[in-house]
Amino acid sequence: MSKQHHHAPIVIIGGGIIGLAAAFELARRDHRVTILEKGRCGGQATGAAAGMLAPYSEIGDDPDDFFTMAHRSLHMYPKWQEAVKEVSGMDFEYNTSGSLHVVFHEADELALETRLEWQSGWNVQADIVRGETLRELEPHITDDVIAAMYYPGEHHIYAPDYVRALKQACIRLGVQIAEETGEVTFKELRSDGVLLHTEKGIYSADQCLICSGAWTSLFSERVQVRLPIFPIRGQICAYKQEGKHIRHIIFSSQGYVLEKANGSIVCGASEDIAGYDSSVTEKGIGRLVKWSERLFPFLKGKEPFHRWAGLRPATQDGYPLIGRLPHIPSVIISSGHYRNGILLSPVNAGIVADLVENNQPEISLALFDPVRFQ
Ligand code: FAD
Ligand code: GLY
Repeated sequence: MSKQHHHAPIVIIGGGIIGLAAAFELARRDHRVTILEKGRCGGQATGAAAGMLAPYSEIGDDPDDFFTMAHRSLHMYPKWQEAVKEVSGMDFEYNTSGSLHVVFHEADELALETRLEWQSGWNVQADIVRGETLRELEPHITDDVIAAMYYPGEHHIYAPDYVRALKQACIRLGVQIAEETGEVTFKELRSDGVLLHTEKGIYSADQCLICSGAWTSLFSERVQVRLPIFPIRGQICAYKQEGKHIRHIIFSSQGYVLEKANGSIVCGASEDIAGYDSSVTEKGIGRLVKWSERLFPFLKGKEPFHRWAGLRPATQDGYPLIGRLPHIPSVIISSGHYRNGILLSPVNAGIVADLVENNQPEISLALFDPVRFQ
C-alpha cells in the first residue's frame, strides 16, 4: 500500500523548543507549518532543562553577536511568554527572581569585576554584593560564599509547562504536529523543495527547517555539509522544598540551584559525554548533591526525589548553526543552542521566520553560518 502524501509550505524537523518556537512565530506571521517529531514534542533536551533565562551568568566572557542574541532574547521574554499564554490559554511559571553568581575565594572576585565592567556597557543591571546585603538577598546560602554578582534581570521559567503551552499555542494557530513519526529522512533535496520520509507518510515542502538538536549531525552526509553538533549530557536532580526557600537562581563554578513554584529545588547540571545515552549515573548526581549541600547546608542529608538528564546540542565553537544552506536553498538549519536553547527560543524564532521570508534578520548571522565547518 502506498504511503499517504502530505504537502506543507514549511516543514520543521524536530519538536523541541527551537522547532516549536519557530513554528509559533511563523504561524503568527500567517505561514502554514507542519512539525515532524520522531518522539514526543519537548521529550528531549527541552523537557530536561532548568529553564533559566540567564545570559549574563551563562555567557559571561565575551560581548559578541551570540551575547547580543541572548541579551535580546531575555528582553523579548516578557511579551513572548504572555503571547504564548494568551494564544494557548495555558499558564506556566515565569519567575522574575534574579540571580546570584557566587564565589568562594578572593581571587574569583576579580573575574566578577571584569564582567561587571564590560556588562555595564550593555546596560546590564548588575552589582557585586557581599556580607549582609548578600545574606539579606539569600538568607540560607553558606557562610563560605564571600561575594556574588547580583543580576536582578535574570529570570526562569518552568520548561515542561512552557513547552506544553507552546505546543498548544501552535495547534491553535493551525500548525500541524505529527509526533511519533520515527526518524525523518530526506528522500529528495532540491533547491525549490524537499521530500521527506516518515513512518506516518511522505511529506513534501517548499522549505524545510532542521531543528533536530543533538541529532542534527546525522543529516550531514545527506545534505553534504559537516554539521558537527554533538550531544553533551546534562544530569540534573530536584529536592522537595520543605521549610527553607531559595529566592534566586544561584550559580557557582560547579553548578546551579533554583527553586520552582511547584515546590521543588532544582540542582544542575553535569556536562558529560555519553553518546546518545540520556540516563543518570550515581557519580553524576552524587557530584550535584555534594555541591548543592555545599551551597545550602540545609540540604545536607536530604535525598533528591527526582533525577533526570538531557542531551544538549553542542557545537565545536560553542555557537549554534543558523542559516540557509547555500547549495540547497530550500533547507534552513537552526540547531546547536547548547546550554541556552530555552533562553534563545524567542530571538531564534524571529531570526528563522525572517530567513523563511527572505528578510535580513536584525542580528548578523556570520558567526552562526551553518557551513562554517566545511
Ligand atoms: P531538543 O529539545 O533536543 O529537540 C530536538 C528534537 O528533534 C527532539 O525532540 C528529537 O526527538 C527531534 N529529532 C531529532 N532528529 C529527528 C529526526 N531525524 N526526525 C524527527 N525528529 C527528530 N537552556 C536554557 O536556556 N536554560 C536552561 O536553564 C537550560 N538548562 C538545561 C539543563 C539541562 C540538564 C539540559 C540537558 C539542557 C539545558 N538547557 C537550558 C539547554 C536546552 O535544553 C537546549 O538548548 C534546548 O532544549 C535545545 O532545543 P532543541 O529544540 O534544539 O533540542
Ligand atoms: N543552562 C544550564 C544547563 O545547560 O545546564
